[in-house]
Amino acid sequence: PWVMDTSPVIISLLFPTQVIEKNVDPEWTLLTFLRKNWTLFTKYACGRGGCGACTVMVSKNDPVFKKIRHFSVTACLVPICSLYGAAVTTVEGIGSIKTRLHPVQERIAKSHGTQCGFCTPGMVMSMYTLLRNHPQPSEEQLMEALGGKSDTEKVHHPRGQMGTVFLAESSGCQQKGTGKCCLDRGENASSPLGGKNDICTKLFAKEEFQPLDPTQELVFPPELLRMAENPEKRTLTFYGERVTWISPGTLKDLLELKVKHPEAPLILGNTSLGPAMKSEGRFHPILLSPARISELTRVTETSEGLTIGAGCSLAQMKDVLAERISKLPEEKTQTYRALLKHLKSLAGPQIRNMASLGGHIISRHSYSDLNPILAVGSATLNLTSAEGTRQIPLNEYFLAGLASADLKPEEILESVHIPHSRKWEFVSAFRQAQCQQNALPHVNASMRVLFKEGTDSVEHLSIAYGGVGAATVIPSCSCPARRWDELMLDEACRLLLDEVSLPGSAPGGRVEFKRTLVVSFLFKFYLEVLQELKKLVKLVSVPVSALIYYYSFLDRFLSALEDFPVAIPQGVQTYQSVDPHQPPRDPVGRPIMHLSGLKHATGEAIFCDDIPVVDKELFMVLVTSSRAHAKIISIDFSEALKLPGVLDVVTAEDVPGTNGAEDDKLLAVDEVLCVGQVICAVVAETDVQAKRAVEMIKITYEDLEPAIFTIQDAVKHNSFLCPEKKLEQGNIEEAFEKVDQIVEGEVHVGGQEHFYMETQRVLVIPKTEDKELDIFVSTQDPAHVQKTVSSTLNIPINRITCHVKRVGGGFGGKVGRPAALGAIAAVGAIKTGRPIRLVLDREDDMLITGGRHPLFGKYKVGFMNSGRIKALDIECYINGGCTLDDSELVTEFLILKLENAYKIRNLRFRGRACMTNLPSNTAFRGFGFPQGTLVTESCITAVAAKCGLLPEKIREKNMYKTVDKTIYKQAFSPETLIRCWNECLDKSSFHSRRIQVEEFNKKNYWKKKGISIIPMKFSVGFAATSYHQAAALVHIYTDGSVLVTHGGNELGQGIHTKMLQVASRELKIPMSYMHICETSTATVPNTIATAASIGADVNGRAVQNACQILLKRLEPIIKKNPEGTWEDWIEAAFEQRISLSATGYFRGYKAFMDWDRGEGDPFPYYVYGAACSEVEIDCLTGAHKKIRTDIVMDACCSLNPAIDIGQIEGSFIQGMGLYTTEELKYSPEGVLYSRSPDEYKIPTITDVPEEFNVSLLPSSQTPLTIYSSKGLGESGMFLGSSVFFAIADAVAAVRTERDIAENFIVQSPATPEWVRMACADRFTDMIPRDDPKTFKPWSIPIA
Ligand SMILES: Cc1cc2nc3c(=O)[nH]c(=O)nc-3n(C[C@H](O)[C@H](O)[C@H](O)COP(=O)(O)OP(=O)(O)OC[C@H]3O[C@@H](n4cnc5c(N)ncnc54)[C@H](O)[C@@H]3O)c2cc1C
Ligand code: FES
Repeated sequence: PWVMDTSPVIISLLFPTQVIEKNVDPEWTLLTFLRKNWTLFTKYACGRGGCGACTVMVSKNDPVFKKIRHFSVTACLVPICSLYGAAVTTVEGIGSIKTRLHPVQERIAKSHGTQCGFCTPGMVMSMYTLLRNHPQPSEEQLMEALGGKSDTEKVHHPRGQMGTVFLAESSGCQQKGTGKCCLDRGENASSPLGGKNDICTKLFAKEEFQPLDPTQELVFPPELLRMAENPEKRTLTFYGERVTWISPGTLKDLLELKVKHPEAPLILGNTSLGPAMKSEGRFHPILLSPARISELTRVTETSEGLTIGAGCSLAQMKDVLAERISKLPEEKTQTYRALLKHLKSLAGPQIRNMASLGGHIISRHSYSDLNPILAVGSATLNLTSAEGTRQIPLNEYFLAGLASADLKPEEILESVHIPHSRKWEFVSAFRQAQCQQNALPHVNASMRVLFKEGTDSVEHLSIAYGGVGAATVIPSCSCPARRWDELMLDEACRLLLDEVSLPGSAPGGRVEFKRTLVVSFLFKFYLEVLQELKKLVKLVSVPVSALIYYYSFLDRFLSALEDFPVAIPQGVQTYQSVDPHQPPRDPVGRPIMHLSGLKHATGEAIFCDDIPVVDKELFMVLVTSSRAHAKIISIDFSEALKLPGVLDVVTAEDVPGTNGAEDDKLLAVDEVLCVGQVICAVVAETDVQAKRAVEMIKITYEDLEPAIFTIQDAVKHNSFLCPEKKLEQGNIEEAFEKVDQIVEGEVHVGGQEHFYMETQRVLVIPKTEDKELDIFVSTQDPAHVQKTVSSTLNIPINRITCHVKRVGGGFGGKVGRPAALGAIAAVGAIKTGRPIRLVLDREDDMLITGGRHPLFGKYKVGFMNSGRIKALDIECYINGGCTLDDSELVTEFLILKLENAYKIRNLRFRGRACMTNLPSNTAFRGFGFPQGTLVTESCITAVAAKCGLLPEKIREKNMYKTVDKTIYKQAFSPETLIRCWNECLDKSSFHSRRIQVEEFNKKNYWKKKGISIIPMKFSVGFAATSYHQAAALVHIYTDGSVLVTHGGNELGQGIHTKMLQVASRELKIPMSYMHICETSTATVPNTIATAASIGADVNGRAVQNACQILLKRLEPIIKKNPEGTWEDWIEAAFEQRISLSATGYFRGYKAFMDWDRGEGDPFPYYVYGAACSEVEIDCLTGAHKKIRTDIVMDACCSLNPAIDIGQIEGSFIQGMGLYTTEELKYSPEGVLYSRSPDEYKIPTITDVPEEFNVSLLPSSQTPLTIYSSKGLGESGMFLGSSVFFAIADAVAAVRTERDIAENFIVQSPATPEWVRMACADRFTDMIPRDDPKTFKPWSIPIA
């Protein structure tokens, strides 16, 4: 209970009306407040400002620019008290289905910009905020606004289009403002998209969109404006349970408070304090908020420089700098330009809107992008205290936190003075991160050189680095009186490498890469300055020897200077339009919007954790092991139980039934097998109380040997989860003897985190009668949850009902795991007799749930000089983690699919799943195929290199050509595969672009392009017959409305939309008559997981069956009254006692695989495709730009081209993430470091290829699926490897030019680190290398 002697927080929540909130706790974030107090649905996905899912708009009076500033923020980091006097607009506030859609909401939904929809409200609010500030934004503004979004599922083109439609004029819509959509009562049928042409390139009708009318927007509340104009001077204090927030109104009061509470931090953006309090357990009982102190946001300029208030946000600073740069002569703005450059890529726009300059400087993060620039730019810090003011330099001593160079506890930073630069002075900044935007830098640098006027003689060189030590590092090398030439460069590099000594075990790892960047950046600067000197030399006669040298080679080297620009992705999506004779009301084959699209965009789509708090609900938090392999000696939760609100701790002893499997316990007993294994769970009144209690639980362990983490170690210890899987054909040994050449190689493919935007969550509600339980859960497999809960509680399955409304992304990660979590929550619910909510934090989710199996592959390939492969032997090991889970199945699928598109007569594939002391890996989109096939394709590339031929020639030569049998003797025709390949070659103008790439590479030394085209044969389905079945239940009600239920779960893949398209065709009524409420084990029992790409195939057939049964029953009635309406027939049917409810069932494919004989028919059909990608790499930093991707995919007769193209694009992007940026790092003790979007980079919209074209191959036929459509959920994932191979192609070009051995270890992801180190040059040669035996590395490779 907290004291009520408090000021009210006056916030205007522009939905529904103004709020004067009296009872706020300073520990609440805006997100907590919105979700808990107002039951609004701004989403929680990471809680650290890293993903953008929780974006809302804040409006405040801006004292710097003297106007109302609208800016986007991540609500999960905004302290509620910081919003005093601000207006907050959430997605609910701008429009709704019930009232009027906002144009942004309409566009994102109708342009198919949503899939699972979990991040859509955040995306909408980013766009909305942009449009509030710029109703006709430029491309740059648009990309900047969307740059702060991570989206595993669908960073794809239509979403880009959603934004671009605001760039152009759009005409009005007939339905505008009604909240209706063209799905209503068949309007969609007459959509202008149907067209007569065979091939269609339009997925939505832009003409329909209502125009943006800025005059319709909500205005800033006048009372808040009055408050801003007459700011209150008194100190406001907000008391919470543990924390007091004090917000003084004057600088004097602030300084007095700082004397009184010297240890209290100043809180501004909370982007540094907030994450530290959350993850590092830092606690501050008093927080001082200087937000209302106008002195801190003052900006002044003198002839010497700019002074910027420490309270200015980084976004304000960016605007100030841009404005000054446009006015001042270039020579004065060198430092400002460098700052502006980094301010564009530092975090996302939301963080820049929140984070303050003062907070940034004082935090002194070693990765700080601005401090190095401020340091070399000789910035000074203006400090103030009750005693007076003083200035200190922002130098190495301050940055290292030396007490004598630091603020005193009672001092605050008032402003920062940044001097203008001078003539003959040059300043630049560099950074390299895992990806271009919204990623913390691995290394950054700022460099400044001052020349003696009129010469190239260095007066002073200053350099500062971030990311290479515990603080910003400022080496002393200043090179006085040196000429700006190669000799100086060489010497400076050596000095820098001596001074910036990064030990082999340095935190953050990537040591050799970082060392290389230290000198590579200097080289970039060297070239840049030479370029500038060249301009100056025209004005003054400079006796520069360097320039003579410079002219001779600079042209080829100039490419080192350009950064990759961020561009709006463009592209064309092509599909076959429906037969012109298809009735207009029949939606099958048309690009129908996702059923929940509009609700996603308005925030009205409810996810599991959006279910309001139920009566007597408790919260559960899991306690996990901190040891990788250990005996549990004791668990002491006595202290935890003493905390307020804590009710219980659930352990294995509380499980009434079976505690998981013998080797895969739900709750650990005696022993733990990995860090992150669940040991027990705390149950408390609130999540905050439960989390605090977890901190108090003391577990003692005794470590056990061995602790195995890597595949190599597992092999050494013979530690496997299941027997080897093997397939063989021909006579491989004999074939090896007859070939011209043999190559052997290794491939390492890292794992992948599912990173579904909605973390795992479940709500278990015990009922009062008959041990019944209702479970609301985010899962791909509710029947599995139901079954697991049943065995755990030892109650029959029929007492348990699982409900799945929709899932915020699954990707395989919600097939098995939700069952375990549901079961643990259910034990808590039974024990306490109260409902239990369990929502995993992102950190816990990443730690506990495992992901894609990392893989290590060895190949030996024998081939003729022509490139014909005669023998291929591949051995794969996957890192399965500590329990079996799906590892055996993944191994099987891997082996079955390894051959991909190639016919090689003599083959041997072997696979083993290693048992290690890591969290168990599990199903993940593609199920082994994306990892395994990378080995096959790498092998092809190696053959090409040996034969001196292009990889595409080897691919073509070895591809299946005629009707044939796979390695497991399943017959198939590759005709469609070849069509995809040829069409992809054609559409991408592959051959002419290959020539252009080569020409570019000849002309450029430091940038290289690469291009690749990859074919794909992907088998869908499970290799088990029992999985090929589905059921549906269709009810027709007496008003004619239809309720469809089926066994599939809506994961964002649009299955519900497709099912209604099927029902609509079968019942011959518009989709608007139909509804799907949820997936529930009570309506359709014994379902299979929605996975393996066949969800729509099998459930579609079940829905079709149910509808056909119903229609058959109605036929006599329709015949009798053919002119009647649907409603007439239903009424008549009811009168005549005809059942209006039917169960449909589909008994699917008989999958079969005999592993002993190595043959079978495991898969119902194949999806074929091909993708061509082109990239450009920066050889000095390892960065890459995706220039273009063309995908041709065989969807047969797509049920819904908009949804299918979305699936292809989404999975391609997810694959691209797997192969380029997503990197999981583990400590030598087996602790996963990568537990947040800060450390694990999934693609953002700025990573989408600049040109991204997708076309569906004009129809082929497949009799096995519903209306000959194909399941496309997973296959696109592997096509992301075309980007990997394009990068590898560019790297190979570098290595050929530099005469470095063509063989290098293929490693995925092709991170900047891998690319940079593979492009060996004088800088990589220069760096010191450590003997691995002499240090303990920060992280270990587990593949
Ligand atoms: C998702 C995310 C991504 C990020 N990406 C990047 C990136 O790419 N590059 C980068 O460089 N940084 C990045 N950052 C860090 C970010 O720049 C800093 O967190 C931010 O600038 C801190 O400012 P703040 O106002 O939020 O500080 P707060 O968290 O509010 O305060 C931080 C500290 O500064 C002190 N302080 C603040 N103002 C004053 C003052 N006037 N006088 C004395 N002490 C003061 C406080 O006492 C406190 O200890 C990222 C942060 C997040 C959350
Ligand atoms: S939940 Fe707030 S940024 Fe991810």
